[in-house]
Amino acid sequence: LCRAVSPAIADCELSFIGREPIDAAKAQRQHANYVALLRQLGAEVIALPSEPDLPDSVFVEDTVLMFDDLAVLTRPGALSRRPEVAAIQQTVRQVREIVHEIQAPGTLDGGDVLRIGKQVYVGRSARSNQAAIDQLADFLRPFGYQVHAVVTRGCLHLKSAVTALDDETVLLQPRWVDRGQFADYRIIEVDDTEEHAANVLRVGDDLLMPDNFPRTRQRLLDAGYRVGTVDVSELQKAEGAVTCCSLLLA
Ligand code: GLY
Repeated sequence: LCRAVSPAIADCELSFIGREPIDAAKAQRQHANYVALLRQLGAEVIALPSEPDLPDSVFVEDTVLMFDDLAVLTRPGALSRRPEVAAIQQTVRQVREIVHEIQAPGTLDGGDVLRIGKQVYVGRSARSNQAAIDQLADFLRPFGYQVHAVVTRGCLHLKSAVTALDDETVLLQPRWVDRGQFADYRIIEVDDTEEHAANVLRVGDDLLMPDNFPRTRQRLLDAGYRVGTVDVSELQKAEGAVTCCSLLLA
């Protein structure tokens, strides 16, 4: 599930990077290419139209958590992003029967939620708080998921700092999250010179990552992964990455 880039993307939220001009038309072309790559990797894409009044709405991952058995509508930490949830909830209710909602005082961005099998790691970050983590744990317990809070530092979301390459392995930026939190997994670290390289999207058995982290990509190739790349430079200026531009339904 993807949403086209808003023409207002230059007015996006920024937390840990400086503002620089964003070319909305270029961002739209890069996003269209990202969607085409998802299709090439075998995904069936539900494409939602752009939202002219919601600058960050291309980052659909932050608005909903998708599990096999249920969906959870989030309550984003940034006020400007809360209306994005209303904009997507009708579509969510078409694909999941059980839909829970994070309630105040909870705040949660989907970028803070990393699911690996039945383990769900949630960043306690600038955007997501313990109240939301507790609500999420209550929603997921009946379905056999275990929720773990993970403290992040210096980055927007947990998935800026760590993503899963498969169910046994994570790619991690040690400056932003403690390795010890993922001691149950094989850990591959990003290259020192590629600060933002930990955000990688799994699509089936393939991985997709931005094209400007060649050293980290080489580590993944050396470890035996199949890793495609995509140019998302304009979306990176909006503090976005590859996982946040889609919601995986399966
Ligand atoms: N611009 C992405 C975010 O701050 O949520």
